Amino acid sequence: MQKLQKEETIALRNKHIGKSCQLFFRKDPLKIVRAKGQYMYDEKDDAFLDCINNVAHVGHCHPKVVQAACEQMSVLNTNNRFLHDNIVLCAKKIASTMPDKLKICFFVNSGSEANDLALRLAQIHTGNRDIIALEHAYHGHLTSLIDISHYKFNLPGGVGQKDHVHVASLPDVYRGKYRDTEYKKDEMGTLYANEVKEICDKIKSDTGKGICAFIAESLISCGGQVIPPQNYFKEVYSHVKAAGGICIADEVQVGFGRVGKYWWAFQKYDVEPDIVTMGKPMGNGHPVACVVTTQEIADSFMKTGVEYFNTYGGNPVSCAVANAVINVIEQENLREHALVVGEYLLDSCHILAKKHKCIGDVRGMGLFVGIDIVQDRETRVPDKELAQYAHHRLREEHILISVDGPHNNIIKIKPPMVFTKENVDEVISTLDRAFKEYRHNNEMYSVNSSKQPKATEVSVKDHRPRKALSETQIKSI
Ligand SMILES: Cc1ncc(COP(=O)(O)O)c(C=O)c1O
Repeated sequence: MQKLQKEETIALRNKHIGKSCQLFFRKDPLKIVRAKGQYMYDEKDDAFLDCINNVAHVGHCHPKVVQAACEQMSVLNTNNRFLHDNIVLCAKKIASTMPDKLKICFFVNSGSEANDLALRLAQIHTGNRDIIALEHAYHGHLTSLIDISHYKFNLPGGVGQKDHVHVASLPDVYRGKYRDTEYKKDEMGTLYANEVKEICDKIKSDTGKGICAFIAESLISCGGQVIPPQNYFKEVYSHVKAAGGICIADEVQVGFGRVGKYWWAFQKYDVEPDIVTMGKPMGNGHPVACVVTTQEIADSFMKTGVEYFNTYGGNPVSCAVANAVINVIEQENLREHALVVGEYLLDSCHILAKKHKCIGDVRGMGLFVGIDIVQDRETRVPDKELAQYAHHRLREEHILISVDGPHNNIIKIKPPMVFTKENVDEVISTLDRAFKEYRHNNEMYSVNSSKQPKATEVSVKDHRPRKALSETQIKSI
């Protein structure tokens, strides 16, 4: 394959790739040419610590996953209209991690396809159309999902809210509608869940019909690493079921043991969804995803007489990859690892918060953590600028984090599951430095001028490129 200079890659991308496909760090994008474990390497072979890639779940280019893909690719790849062991073994394994009633799998190619099929199943099974989703939620890029993703349809240039879509408040106890300053946790869970009931009641009084489905991530990612109160989903599910709807748990970001204690984040809430969707980590970078549902819902779909055919869904290569990912999670005890390293990460963030008032809240479970950056702890006013500064500053230190949430002030950490305690130390000490620098620069500005500094104006002197790891170092990861 032809190798291009970085400038040539940028020029060709500008010429031929749609501008809506945005790059990280648009002013100085990264060109990544290889990756291993929790590290990504640019064209100069400088390494970047990857704290955001929950797709490369068991580590970038895990040898067992790569081997499974190569071996199956060299023997057979075809559609699932032929009998093949990989698809049935994968379905059996996934079903074994779920509540008993969830045992029927439909294999697809992406999280978006999984959620689209989940909506289709829900509509057919209930005969209803109205969907309840959460504020700031994202469920995928297909038209059906942009329609229910407040994160997208509500943007200034977005398509707006369709009649069949209803948005319930984000159950965020830190900066949501009901806050921990005024209510106890279970009170907030009930108040947020009651909003879903009110929506169900309104749909009934307006249309005379029940609802189709409630869909939510079990821990909410784009909404800002939000951990709903413990009683929230139980109460929501009971309201939704009473209104004739079904409950869809979107585990595309948080599934496959990321939360450590459980395979699936919904299990934390002791609820049984009717449909679970999964994707991203399932293929460790290979496009494979799945919808898991009950016999009754699958039967309703079958009774329509319309065959479900998906050319690539469940092909032998994708299923070999998914099987390998699940095996690696088990063989390398990655759930236990996520639990231990995740706790260490949360503890370290709490210690950092004692030093820096700009940290308003730290929340998370396993290797799914959010740091809420504020201008003021009392008022909880979000500090987008400082979050952006940290984002760029860490990139200069070759650490990749992301910033998200309704106010773009939540530092998100959701690394490959092979992330280590040493990696945590590195991230925390670099954040420590970045926050100190920012405060120092702010003080300088406030003494010398009334103008507030912009993140991009703050000069960064301490640029230390990280060198590529040796093979021995990589093996010890
Ligand atoms: C929660 C959630 N659901 C669904 C999707 C869609 O997955 P994909 O991009 O694989 O289509 C995403 C993607 O970011 C997601 O975050």
